[in-house]
Amino acid sequence: MCGIVGYVGSKQACPILLEGLSKLEYRGYDSAVVAVLDGEKINVQKARGRLSVLSNMVDGGKSVNGVMGIGHTRWATHGEPSDVNSHPHVSSSGRFAVVHNGIIENYIPLKKRLMEKGFQFVSETDTEVVAHLFEYYYKGDLLEAMTKVIHRVEGSYALGVLCSDYPDSFVAVRKASPMIVGVGRGENFIASDVTAILAHTRNVYYLEDDEIVMLSASGVKIYNTDREEIKKEIFRVNWDVSAAEKGGYEHFMMKEIEEQPKALRDTISPRIKDGKIVLDDISLTSEYISSLKKIYIVACGSAYHVGVVGKYVIERMCRISVEVEVASEFRYHDPLIGKGDLVIVISQSGETADTLAALKEAKARGAHVLSIVNVVGSSIANASDSVLYTWAGPEIAVATTKAYSTQLAVIYLIAIYMADKLGRLENDEYSRLIEELNTLPDKVSKILENKSEIQFLASKFFSSKSIFFIGRNLDYAVSLEGSLKLKEISYIHSEAYAAGELKHGTISLIEDGTLVVALATGDKLYEKTISNVKEVKARGAVVMGVTTTHHEHAEDVCDYVVRIPDADELVLPSLSVIPLQLFGYYVASLKGCDIDKPRNLAKSVTVE
Ligand code: F6R
Repeated sequence: MCGIVGYVGSKQACPILLEGLSKLEYRGYDSAVVAVLDGEKINVQKARGRLSVLSNMVDGGKSVNGVMGIGHTRWATHGEPSDVNSHPHVSSSGRFAVVHNGIIENYIPLKKRLMEKGFQFVSETDTEVVAHLFEYYYKGDLLEAMTKVIHRVEGSYALGVLCSDYPDSFVAVRKASPMIVGVGRGENFIASDVTAILAHTRNVYYLEDDEIVMLSASGVKIYNTDREEIKKEIFRVNWDVSAAEKGGYEHFMMKEIEEQPKALRDTISPRIKDGKIVLDDISLTSEYISSLKKIYIVACGSAYHVGVVGKYVIERMCRISVEVEVASEFRYHDPLIGKGDLVIVISQSGETADTLAALKEAKARGAHVLSIVNVVGSSIANASDSVLYTWAGPEIAVATTKAYSTQLAVIYLIAIYMADKLGRLENDEYSRLIEELNTLPDKVSKILENKSEIQFLASKFFSSKSIFFIGRNLDYAVSLEGSLKLKEISYIHSEAYAAGELKHGTISLIEDGTLVVALATGDKLYEKTISNVKEVKARGAVVMGVTTTHHEHAEDVCDYVVRIPDADELVLPSLSVIPLQLFGYYVASLKGCDIDKPRNLAKSVTVE
């Protein structure tokens, strides 16, 4: 989705904006711009395609003079990627330049009204109305104009606005779209996320909806919609610059796959004290947990797949019914939830529009919302009743890996914590599960040591047209993720199927040489899945089995076998997903795909 960077200070703005935008490239975009105020005039430079095109056009920023500016990478929603549709949108007098991330939902009536008043529109975008609204409302006070504009627009927005009457300061605001404020020494920033400004400062303000920020080189002032200044706490980000850099890896995705043992340790260890799970961040009492009739898990994409694992794990351990739903469906089907219900929301970015809307829907109906989020201070974290952070660090590759793994770890922590509160775990069992969690990072490291084996398998199958993933129960949940990982980055058609369901239609797609990745990790359903393997093999499939060390005879039925270490059945998804991530990565690499930035995808999906 769109990326925004803004700078004001004593240095030349353009190179800083370009560098910041380069850190936001992972969000997905199809055009890039910078707008710099040189004291009098706003100089706008736009380029379609990659940021490098813009950078070359402005000689790395050297050809654009000025110490204050805003930059934008646009992921087209309204109107094709083109110069005329790309931001910033400039008001008719040229006095205002506006960058925007989000969607102005009422732009059509606003556009009509403005056209009746004589404003001329040049683009197909929703954002252009904002530039003209500034022109319309501006009577010499930029802050006042901002409050009037946000009063009129509906939808989601992160806005950065330059005004040529204000040569030393600019204004920004956000609502349901991400934007943080970076506070430096003699220089200040706005950005869609902290990775864009980490090289300059780690001190940030997280803005609430409709908090307006006025930035100059000497300071940052934050106002409410009544234009009263408000005081906020500065937050110190503990991510370092290297966390958002490739550090010698060819792709962020492989770096992030390899970071999983550490991310798991960082997420699990601080929450286990003296052999007990301590979740200080949430307040779920035994009485409350005992009163729960149902738990909902709501998320999108891979985070939803974590929820599918969560359903099996929580139901098995706590005997509470769990319903998992994709957020875009949940938000619109009048869900049967109410006061006292628990809704677990899962999101890496904390900004996914559908997940945020589902959360608000759940809260409006009186449910308690517990979120599992990676980005501190994000909209979903702010809007939840309680938050459990995944300490995965910044995830840059569009295809999630370490965020998925840490979300899963938090699900295990919640499940064991609740089962204990419900009195469902004997001491020995509790300690054994804690040990299972503690040993996960080392077991993941062990799988990663053998990644050349997966690379070899990828070399055999990278030209496949279609690949199926099958499994039962928890293995099915992981199949969903394995299939998504493969298709999103390699563009190979893939489907995940509950192994027992295949013969109700889908098996007709199996033909000679079709690759079926069969997950058969747990003991209980091992033989059942092996029967399904035999069924697809009888129809010509080539089978890559994924199983645990002690299933010695897997080779008798599968053409290839990938082994993961033995572990308690409930935590096996944390291990079985790793070879699938590697498989997707290597297949995409062999196909020469743009692994970190797959076509049509964005990292943080801030539109519905
Ligand atoms: C797939 C992937 C997406 C995200 C989904 C939710 O690899 O990364 O499916 O999981 O868009 O994003 P968050 O977790 O930021 O809400």
